[in-house]
Amino acid sequence: TEIFGERTNSAGLAFGDSVALTDLMRGMDGADLEGLNVASIIGGEDRPGPEERDLLSPNDSQPIAKLSEADERMAREAVDVSARGFREWNETPPEARALALERAADLLEVNRDRLMAILAKEAGKNLEDGIAEIREAVDFCRFYAAEARRLFQPQPLPGPVGEENQLRLEGRGVFAVISPWNFPLAIFLGQTTAALAAGNAVVTKPAEQTPLIAQEAVRILHEAGIPTSACQLLLGDGRVGKAMLDHEKIAGVVFTGSTEVAKLIQRQLAEKPGPILPLIAETGGVNAMVVDATALPEQVTDDVVASAFQSAGQRCSALRVLYVQEDVADTMLKMIIGRTKTMKLGDPALATTDIGPIIDEEARSKLAKYAGSREGLVYKGDAPKEGTFLAPHIFELGDEEILEREQFGPILHVKRFKAGEFDRVLKEVASTGYGLTFGIHTRITEVAQRLAEEAPAGNVYVNRNQIGAIVGSQPFGGMGLSGTGPKAGGPHYLLRFAEERVISTNI
Ligand code: NAD
Ligand code: ALA
Repeated sequence: TEIFGERTNSAGLAFGDSVALTDLMRGMDGADLEGLNVASIIGGEDRPGPEERDLLSPNDSQPIAKLSEADERMAREAVDVSARGFREWNETPPEARALALERAADLLEVNRDRLMAILAKEAGKNLEDGIAEIREAVDFCRFYAAEARRLFQPQPLPGPVGEENQLRLEGRGVFAVISPWNFPLAIFLGQTTAALAAGNAVVTKPAEQTPLIAQEAVRILHEAGIPTSACQLLLGDGRVGKAMLDHEKIAGVVFTGSTEVAKLIQRQLAEKPGPILPLIAETGGVNAMVVDATALPEQVTDDVVASAFQSAGQRCSALRVLYVQEDVADTMLKMIIGRTKTMKLGDPALATTDIGPIIDEEARSKLAKYAGSREGLVYKGDAPKEGTFLAPHIFELGDEEILEREQFGPILHVKRFKAGEFDRVLKEVASTGYGLTFGIHTRITEVAQRLAEEAPAGNVYVNRNQIGAIVGSQPFGGMGLSGTGPKAGGPHYLLRFAEERVISTNI
């Protein structure tokens, strides 16, 4: 039996003391994923939509389930049901809401093997990413449960003699939850449980590529005690999302996905009649790392490769542009290429797989077109022919070139800088308008401090990789084109989901 033992994931977490790899594989193989039907859930009932199609696995393009998506009429109905369920859930004491979320965390752990099997088949997550994803989902449930207890008790405030003042946080109403495919369990549940913890009812719309894991997650929430009237699942693409947001009873939106769609949603909300609606948007990044001549080469190699290629580069936090001091650039590039060559692409359910597929053919061919049409290729790996795989690519950018758009896959860009040119580097990075993650590798404390202070990014990582933020320890989220904040998994997140009311009584 091979034990994960001391191996740690990219976030430095141990894989779990007693988790045997063979047990996990057996559990995943044994998970009954045959003959699945995936549908929306409204009022606790499975609700197929008007049309059915095959849901394909990115690993081999084979069907894994029959999927039927919602139409606009169902989108309206889902919001109506949650609007009716809101009051009862909002009046449920924070302690009871927290307990339900903690039960959901327990159920995620109990169902770990099945969830990992689905993540591998539906989203192409390898074992390492699957474990990290479930752990993050569990962390979100427990963290927001604790936050509900901390924040949602009535708070007495100081006031003049003869008056009592009380601050109360309450849910806003029906929160629309719109999530991406790249963290189809962790982000989907993180956003959903935050909205629920704050007393909102929700209508959740996962990405169209990953409905199966979302269906499992919503069933777990219901089983854990979240009322079926407070949590609906709506399957479909952007049209269904748009129809849901058109409903007059939507009270707020939490969105994670591309910057382009965040702006579309912002415009739609602004043009709607009725109240000014809050939008929490967590979006993409053109993330940089700066490596100076004092950095430790082996450490840089590991951290660059993990940041750029883990999860096939399909992380908003992933490294896109590596700035390396010219004195060490040739050596560093040689080491990074050497390390990248050892990475195995293939079936994510195999323990030996480092890099899984790109989520679907549309995304793969867009990335391949970009990689095939640009200059400066210094390395290209091999990829399996079956499934939607893309080999890791490394390009050198031209002297004047700035990467303007996020390339959401295993494509790393490298740029050289001269000693002391930090101002130029920071200016270039800031000029993209994004601000999500930023990596620094140096052994000079003053350089690390200065770059960390001035880095135009919401999450800065020094002498480590720049992916895998840990709930509660590394609240996550960007600025500018990368998002509105507040940071997921941080102490201010639930506040944005709540109405604040103050009651002042003359006694
Ligand atoms: P996407 O923007 O294409 O889709 C995200 C969600 O929005 C999906 O559920 C989609 O169906 C829905 N949608 C699309 N059009 C819509 C519309 N008009 N109205 C309402 N909903 C609509 O993004 P994606 O491809 O699923 O995810 C990848 C993107 O997510 C990348 O840009 C990545 O950087 C970003 N991301 C950001 C974070 C973060 O925390 N900052 C985390 C993960 C992913
Ligand atoms: N929170 C995820 C990460 O840090 C997106 O990689």
